[in-house]
Amino acid sequence: MRFYVNIDHIATVRQARMTDEPDPVRAAVLAELGGADGITVHLREDRRHILDRDVHLLMETVRTNVNLELAATSEILALACEWRPMQATLVPEKREEVTTEGGLALTEAAHLESTGKALDQLVSSGIRASLFIDPDEASIQAAADIGADAVELHTGEYANATTATRAEEISRLRRASALAKELGISVHAGHGLTYENVSPIASIPEIEELNIGHSIVARSVFTGLERAVRDMAKIIRQARLKA
Ligand code: PXP
Repeated sequence: MRFYVNIDHIATVRQARMTDEPDPVRAAVLAELGGADGITVHLREDRRHILDRDVHLLMETVRTNVNLELAATSEILALACEWRPMQATLVPEKREEVTTEGGLALTEAAHLESTGKALDQLVSSGIRASLFIDPDEASIQAAADIGADAVELHTGEYANATTATRAEEISRLRRASALAKELGISVHAGHGLTYENVSPIASIPEIEELNIGHSIVARSVFTGLERAVRDMAKIIRQARLKA
């Protein structure tokens, strides 16, 4: 299991004042010291948190791996191909959303085609490409059809589930993970995972990578980032022993 820490919200605090602190580049160092296997950032078209300068410097300084989340727009794709992070995750992006709201709409023909082209562009630049999708059969099949190396299953609905729907959301993620694996696709997961809800997801055996951001950055205000990352890594490790 790889544990990637998303540091977008370090940049959110900086951008609240349009200043130069806190610096996500320094945050990445602390996340790595806390046990992160990689650093995830989302360079949004509107640059609301992470800036080009951040990705550029992270590419120079991160000692693990960078996973760049991006929408399939020509501008951001060109930057990704120039920077060549180890991994890129294609995500849908809407201007007005507070955070990514759902997976890529791969069941729509036009979206599938544009996602396939973006995927090819990333792969031909030597970047491992992952697709952020909802945990449903049709999306996984579509990801396989366009040759995705990996999918990141959206855990947002699980995170928002009620006591009555939680078990079904876990089963849905389990079924989706098994199908992706059967089709030869690596399985990642993320969105809305917290110290309280991560364990059932970390113990799904097919899931090999988790991307977690907000909950860790929120806790870090009280504990410091290195400790917040270390605490999450410990919970994931313990859950994994039960996988
Ligand atoms: N994975 C993807 C594709 C995301 O867009 C995000 C949010 O930027 C995350 C994981 C992390 O979600 P959270 O901040 O809720 O942990």
